[in-house]
This record gives sequence, structure tokens and C-alpha cells, in this order.
Amino acid sequence: MTEQQALMNRIKENIQQYCDTYFDFTFKPDQPTVRLHEPTVSGEEIFAAVETMLSTFTTMGKKVRAFEQQYADYAHTRYGVMSNSGSSANLLSIAALSNPFTPDHLKPGDEVLVPALSWSTTIWPLIQHQLIPVMVDCDIHDFNLDLNKLERAIGPKTRAIKLVHVYGNPCNMDAIMMLARKHNLFVIEDCCEAMGATYDNRPVGSFGHVGNFSFFFSHHISTMEGGISVTHDFNLTETMRILRAHGWSREADEHAKYVEMYPDIDPRFIFINQGYNLRPTEVNAAIGQLQLPKLDALIDNRRETAAFFLKRFAKYEEYFHFQQETPKGKHVWFGFPMIVKKNAPFQVKDITAYLQRHHIETRPIIAGNMARHPAFKLYRHRIAGDLSSADTIMQQGMAIACHHAVDHAARDYVANILDTFITECVIQTSKLSA
Ligand SMILES: Cc1ncc(COP(=O)(O)O)c(C=O)c1O
Repeated sequence: MTEQQALMNRIKENIQQYCDTYFDFTFKPDQPTVRLHEPTVSGEEIFAAVETMLSTFTTMGKKVRAFEQQYADYAHTRYGVMSNSGSSANLLSIAALSNPFTPDHLKPGDEVLVPALSWSTTIWPLIQHQLIPVMVDCDIHDFNLDLNKLERAIGPKTRAIKLVHVYGNPCNMDAIMMLARKHNLFVIEDCCEAMGATYDNRPVGSFGHVGNFSFFFSHHISTMEGGISVTHDFNLTETMRILRAHGWSREADEHAKYVEMYPDIDPRFIFINQGYNLRPTEVNAAIGQLQLPKLDALIDNRRETAAFFLKRFAKYEEYFHFQQETPKGKHVWFGFPMIVKKNAPFQVKDITAYLQRHHIETRPIIAGNMARHPAFKLYRHRIAGDLSSADTIMQQGMAIACHHAVDHAARDYVANILDTFITECVIQTSKLSA
């Protein structure tokens, strides 16, 4: 063994020792805290990141390419284009579908149907490409696009559906793809909350023209920051690779073709399109390569926790309703969302304050109805019909943790605290009405 290898082994051992000693995210009954997210990475991912840094080959290269194929295989698609976030994946997909390199591409003024219950960067790329977001309500049961309202929202300018699998619950892809075929629409799946989810045993992201995923810290697996767009379409893949890095042809599979076409330009710098810099690093990919094989097991725990909460809270159906898993869908529970019913003797702010006092973190369900956010005053959009369910989710909804590290003790703690809260509220209400 060389001195260099011996040193590397010591680094590895030290990282492992550090993680064994200080990486304990299990629930502590004497200091109860249930955070919305806990890290998915362990010593081996951190060592892979350090090893990549020490190699000095840190900018996008072979590891990114290998991870793209690994992820595309997992997602049952032919291609993957990694970027530096889920937002960038959303941006790249819309940029590519709006680009002259795409036949019959989206044009300024075209309408794209999006769920009102979505994330900001589900929608901003549409605005950034002069497309018109058409905000459609969600279904109050599964929280995904309301299919009747979706169909009614289609107009002469509609060119695409950009859907979200909300909180990891797959949309009814049979119905959506049928509608898309009937009206000749592009389908872009924002799967940023739905990594590993399936519909009819097929991974989300593999149905539409492009599927976008996020590897941000709080997601099912993480590369720190990171995202990926998956597709079956070679042309779209090439366009996304070109737009991802400056508009040059260097990372395109067909780079040689461009070199031949433009012999007078330095092959390293042939700009064949406009572009951004949305590249991930080799460090992100090295982490991703180790995280992906762990994804299914991490999801199993989320599903167990959700099943536990649904069973345990069934007695409170008078006060709450819960997100229903789509038939034929495998829900991957980005969190556990709950809606406080109108007739409950408490409001959502009462329960979130109570849980917070007991160190149980909560958050809104995504960010509620995006059309209610101030940014929408600035930009052209259309609201299709009423957004009453998205409003209900915004006003009466909240989510608690449902991640891989919510163990039996944490689940029991959350359920017991909720029991105490409800008992106190019910006693208080009966005292008031006595
Ligand atoms: C539906 C949805 N789309 C896009 C994103 C953006 O992903 P990122 O944070 O990786 O940019 C998120 C983030 O959680 C999301 O929930």
C-alpha cells in the first residue's frame, strides 16, 4: 500500500468514526424532538465527497454521466440530465421544450396548465419563457390536479400540462396521458416530491415528455443540492445538455457532428444554442451514486410511518382529513399532510403552536395555493375556475414529518402529543358549552 493510499484509508476511518459518534438522528425520549427532515447521508457518502474533492476532478464529468444513467435506469427512462437542483431540472425541461431545437416547441403566449397547489419553481420557468401559467385547482382527496377542472381548463392556446405529484402521491397518469394525447399536449412531470413513487408499477417521471426530480437535503435521497430530468427522448436530452452548460456542444452525444460542421471554430467552444450554467458537480454525483441504492429502503420507512399515522388518527376523522393514496399509485410520503376540518374545535394555528411547543416541527402543505402569493400580482397568468380546494389546503392544512428517521418511538410520541392536544381541546370546548 502506498503512503497516499494509507492516508486515504485513515481519512475514511476518521470520517466513519466521526459519523458513528455524532451522527445519531434517532428519537431521544429524554429530549423529544421530531424534525421535518433528517440527513440521509452517512459516513460513506461523506467520504466519497471528500475523496472526489481530493481527486481535484470536481466539476461535471464522468461521475455525473454515470449517475445520470444509474438514475435513468431506476426511473425506467432512457436518459437523465443532472443539474444543480430540482428547480434547475424544471427550468431545463421548460427551456428545452421552448427551444427552436425542439420540433413544434412551446412559444411565447402558449398556455401551460399547472396545479395551483405546486411549488414556486414549478411555475417560474413558464413565466421566464413567456408562457402563460394556467392555475388549476387540486382534488381535496388526493391533493393532485382535479381532473374535471383540468379538462375544463383546456383552451385553444393550451400546449402543455406541468403536473406535480403532490407530497409523493402519484397523479392518475392514465387519465392525464389520455387527456394529453387527445389534445396533443406536452406533459412535464414535476416529481420533486415523488422520488421512487410509481403509478401502475411504473416510476413517475417516465410517463410524460420529461420528469424532474430534486436531491435537496429534505428529499427522499440527497446529493446536498441537485436535480435530474429524465426522458425517453434523445433530442430533448441533447438540448438539455446543451442548455445546461452555456449553450456549447461539448457534452452533447453528437458533439462530433458539430465539430465537423464548424471546422473553423475551436471544438471546445462551439456555441450552438443559448444556455445557462446549471451544472452539478462530481461531488453531488458521487453522493448520489451511493444514495440511490438506499432509496427503496428509505421509502419503506416513510410508508410504514404514514400507515401508522393513518391508522392511529382514524379516530379523529371528525376533525381531520388525510391525503388519499391514488388507486394504482405507490405514495412515497414526502411528509404527512393533514387538513383540519371546518367544524373542528381548533384551528390549524392552534395545533401547529401546540406541536411546536412539544418540539414537533410542522410546515404548510407545499406553500398552499401559489396564486395567492404576492409574486403573481407581477406576472401574467390565468386562473381556471375556482381554486377552492387549494385554498382549503392553504388555510387549513399542515404537514408533519414522515421521513426515513421517524422511528417507532418518534411515531408514538407524535401520536400521543396529538391525543393530548385533542383531549385538551375537546374538554375546553365542552366546558365552554356547559
Ligand atoms: C414540487 C416541487 N418542485 C420543485 C422543487 C424545487 O426543488 P429544489 O429545492 O431542489 O430546487 C420542490 C422543492 O421541494 C418541490 O416541492
